Amino acid sequence: MQQTNARRALALVGALVGALVVSNAGAQSAAPTAPPRVGSRTGQQAWSAVCANCHMPRTVGGRVRAPTGPRLENKRTPEAEMRNVIRNGHGTMRPIPAARLADSELAPLIAYLRTFNAVR
Ligand code: HEC
Repeated sequence: MQQTNARRALALVGALVGALVVSNAGAQSAAPTAPPRVGSRTGQQAWSAVCANCHMPRTVGGRVRAPTGPRLENKRTPEAEMRNVIRNGHGTMRPIPAARLADSELAPLIAYLRTFNAVR
């Protein structure tokens, strides 16, 4: 009688550990989420993926690097000019083609740029 109880308890513990391992494996495989695709990003995601590398300081190997392009905060660029810069470039900034920033992402990106007054 005591032995069967002990066996039952062991079986229960085994089942619990098994369930934990399975659920943890699931959590780990779901962890690295793929970056959102071109054409399905929010304005902020498009900014981070396409513009921020050049227009915001970034940390490389623990050291902060100055951006290659100017900061855009409070520049209050008119929307038409912003769209023109994005698609046609500006000085040394190369044009950003639709393959990197879909037409449908322009409006959300402009809206995001307005949150820090890069666009008036
Ligand atoms: C590969 C680097 C790079 C990327 C990517 C990039 N830029 Fe630029 N951008 C620059 C540089 C460098 C300049 C300054 C060029 C010049 O005036 O000669 C610039 C200039 C600009 C200007 C004009 C600023 C001014 O002083 O009038 C705007 C606006 C701008 N970028 C917006 C954007 C936006 C929005 C994106 C993302 C869709 C973007 N840029 C992506 C490098 C980049």
